[in-house]
Amino acid sequence: MLRDELRQILEKGLRDVEADWTVPAGIINDPEMHDAERERVFGRSWVFLAHDSEIPERGDYVVRYISEDQFIVCRDEDGEIRGHLNSCRHRGMQVCRAEMGNASHFRCPYHGWTYNNKGSLVGVPAGREAYGNKLDKSLWQLKPVPKLDTYKGLIFGCLDPEAQSLEDYLGDMKFYLDIVLDRSDAGLEVIGAPQRWVVDANWKLGADNFIGDAYHTMMTHRSMVELGLAPPDPKFALYGEHVHTENGHGLGIIGPPPGIPLPEFLGMPENIVEQLQRRLSPEQVEVFRPVAFIHGTVFPNLSIGNFLMSKDHVSPPTSFLTLRLWHPLGPDKMEIMSFFLVEKEAPDWYKEESYQAYVRTFGISGAFEQDDAENWRSITRVLGAQYAKTMELNYQMGRGLYEPDPDWPGPGKAFPMDYAEANQRNFMEYWMQLMVTDPVPHTGNGKVSDGTAAEALARAEA
Ligand code: FES
Ligand SMILES: [Fe+2]
Repeated sequence: MLRDELRQILEKGLRDVEADWTVPAGIINDPEMHDAERERVFGRSWVFLAHDSEIPERGDYVVRYISEDQFIVCRDEDGEIRGHLNSCRHRGMQVCRAEMGNASHFRCPYHGWTYNNKGSLVGVPAGREAYGNKLDKSLWQLKPVPKLDTYKGLIFGCLDPEAQSLEDYLGDMKFYLDIVLDRSDAGLEVIGAPQRWVVDANWKLGADNFIGDAYHTMMTHRSMVELGLAPPDPKFALYGEHVHTENGHGLGIIGPPPGIPLPEFLGMPENIVEQLQRRLSPEQVEVFRPVAFIHGTVFPNLSIGNFLMSKDHVSPPTSFLTLRLWHPLGPDKMEIMSFFLVEKEAPDWYKEESYQAYVRTFGISGAFEQDDAENWRSITRVLGAQYAKTMELNYQMGRGLYEPDPDWPGPGKAFPMDYAEANQRNFMEYWMQLMVTDPVPHTGNGKVSDGTAAEALARAEA
């Protein structure tokens, strides 16, 4: 149950975000909000787990998270992608202690129960002496992710067995995701393990920043312009479209600043441009042709950055693609996971240049990353205090200045410049709607697992 006080803050927040375009500061760093958010937001949303290229071979696995639950995301012996709760059915011990690897089986280090990578319990030490060989192993497999699905290589999981399908959840955002994920025949690959680091900041600040905050670049990242890594116009992030869709998703699509010529299609290599013109719809091609920067967030915590940037002040700009996951570790802490992706069929020179541009700007030591993290840390610290929590935050950018763009060829609600906060309001509004809507209680074992308890009951009755 949501405490009355939290419900009042959220219900007022929902009214204010519509009427006044403001958002309550108290949603950022508050332990009770965070507890409710785990259940109400992360308990019901489709959360990004991994890219299928991270587990190309049978037995490959990575350990990933939905809120605090950790899952082994693996490719089983039949090549199928699966997600198992990383917790032994005997006493709950982690059965997999590495973050990635290849294994046909996971043996629990506590008492040795052993599971295959389909999640079935296949070995119980001293089964005869301890259980008289009567333990029904089929009842004690690793708990699966209640819902697991992929979209164009992205593997998502959802803890709510009643949730809508991933396709429906992504909705119109798919039009834009395809521009990034589906522009070559062989698709994308993640290079290396994701970079990971912990920041003392609330995860929503990363999501809010990527979904629509082109405005901060002028101030926070001005040094990038001065260093020659971004286009030579401090307002370089203004010149674009600001688009949001259902379920809190949104993105900004930015072209070159006026008078600054940049290559079409993010300057991608010729073979990829040839493929994308064939693969994407004419509307998607029209949207993508003038692009220099795409930034966006798939609600709740997966963000995309597809940027044209220089690795230093003398090299020509190269595009790179990064996915980032804002994994919450508490109301005032998150782990950032940053993935570098590139088209499998891109030439080696491009892969190398693209990686260099990524590492020097948006990797863990990249200048952009450090600029942003300090702001988010400071906001989180300030908004955790008692008086600061009572404030309203201003989300009014562009109010009365522009209307939705009738000529935009893509779906969603689009505004003709990226200095806007419609995407951020849409994100926060959806977040608050989830927070005030009581979840349907799961009915226990049978529903959340794959029916094994129900089977057991049927067996018992037979
Ligand atoms: S906790 Fe895993 S075998 Fe006992
Ligand atoms: Fe930034």
